[in-house]
Amino acid sequence: MTTIKKASMVIDKQFTIAEVDKRIYGSFIEHLGRAVYGGIYEPTHPKADEHGFRQDVVELVQGLQVPIVRYPGGNMVSAYHWEDGVGPKEERPRRLELAWRTIETNEVGTNEFMDWAQKVGTEVMMAVNLGTRGIDAARNFIEYCNHPGGTYWSDLRKKHGYEQPHAIKTWCLGNEMDGPWQIGHKTADEYGRLAVETAKAMRLVDPSIELVACGSSHSKMPTFPEWEATTLEHTYEQVDYISLHQYFANPDNDSANYLAGALQMDSFIKTVISTCDYIKAKKRSKKQMNLSFDEWNVWYHSHRDSKKIEPWTIAPPQLEDHYNFEDALLVGSLLITFLKHADRVKVACLAQLVNVIAPIMTENNGAAWKQTIYYPYMHTSLFGRGVSLQPVITSPLFDTKDFTDVPYIDSAVVYNEEHEEVTLFIINRHLEESVHLTCDVRSFENYEIIEHLVLEHDDLKAVNTKQHQKVKPHPNGNAEIKDGTLETLVSHLSWNVIRMKNKKIGSILL
Ligand code: AHR
Repeated sequence: MTTIKKASMVIDKQFTIAEVDKRIYGSFIEHLGRAVYGGIYEPTHPKADEHGFRQDVVELVQGLQVPIVRYPGGNMVSAYHWEDGVGPKEERPRRLELAWRTIETNEVGTNEFMDWAQKVGTEVMMAVNLGTRGIDAARNFIEYCNHPGGTYWSDLRKKHGYEQPHAIKTWCLGNEMDGPWQIGHKTADEYGRLAVETAKAMRLVDPSIELVACGSSHSKMPTFPEWEATTLEHTYEQVDYISLHQYFANPDNDSANYLAGALQMDSFIKTVISTCDYIKAKKRSKKQMNLSFDEWNVWYHSHRDSKKIEPWTIAPPQLEDHYNFEDALLVGSLLITFLKHADRVKVACLAQLVNVIAPIMTENNGAAWKQTIYYPYMHTSLFGRGVSLQPVITSPLFDTKDFTDVPYIDSAVVYNEEHEEVTLFIINRHLEESVHLTCDVRSFENYEIIEHLVLEHDDLKAVNTKQHQKVKPHPNGNAEIKDGTLETLVSHLSWNVIRMKNKKIGSILL
């Protein structure tokens, strides 16, 4: 028989963590597999616009209100020549793309990507190659992109049809330079020296930019967190963020353990914050180093298929994970974790956006659809803007293979003062037991529930296909407010979005 456990929560507008930086709802497009070619760009597709961008994909991306997209890599950037991707298309070289062992046609490059970003309404987070290249290529690239004109590279941009500078604000100093798989892999000292000198040169070209130094590729790297400490020793005063990357997997089908993965992400974030603060103290610096979690997601479903791919083909179906319901639950809990660290995590990029470990899937010359993970990502991006509040949660706990004291209930709360709206994101990650939750909401006097969305399914392995959206939210959640207390039965394995609004606002407008 299913038992019902109890949990309680208190939320208060005074318990603030920080204003949410909307860029935590960022994403990532790499020149990898069918992310670009067959994903965002397919000139022969019936829904392609005059520039070759798929309008069906544009609409799905717009539905997520993605504020920033990292580009062009990823591992790919570590041998990339940005000059290959600008100027007349017919003159662009085809290259061996060494990171993923494919052919890169360079049909899409910086300017086309900036056009696409404008179309979907997002900012671009641009990465420079610090694998095979360095200071010169990076400073030329930023001159091409951001300098108004009157110099060789900025005038070349104009000649290519882009009169106005792209004004790209956020730049990554390379990608995963701690990883032996990276082309141009470096020691932390080698990377730190190159990163700081590149940062200085880039800032001379455009002092308004923000820079991200590479942290570890994941928290289990043998050099973590020494890599962060050494890198920051070199770069602390010249960069604004240190990056974190983490992917999750459930290869042994231990769902209880898998769904507790956010605890690991939480501990990773805390260790990186401590490392940053240690270097701050050592340097007697007044500056706070923030975090850019610029690659995160579930990635494992496609491992076997990706190995079978023939090398040196154009846009093969690499890293095409088909996500199930439990992946959506985990993604929701990871988004909650970012909100709980809104004071330090200022950028986060779901890796990636289309086809390659992505919330959006397409067929070449065919349909485009929402994967299961699309929904928690969309909910937080749409409703998670404002101030992140610290909910005080008392929840029953359980243990899994790798974690002890896993709370059944996890939650993040965002207060949008301007719209007088509060959204509670709540997950129950227990496999069997539902939880009766009471939440003290007295600080939000006169607020009423305007929506309670629930993502739930009786099959953890259910996936969405082009024909059938098996996993999608319904609006029939049962939350209600009585005398300053919100009550709801949070079903086992469910993602909940409870939106409250000040009643007075509604009546004033009427
Ligand atoms: O997102 C896929 C790959 O994962 C990226 O290219 C790399 O940075 C990471 O290892």
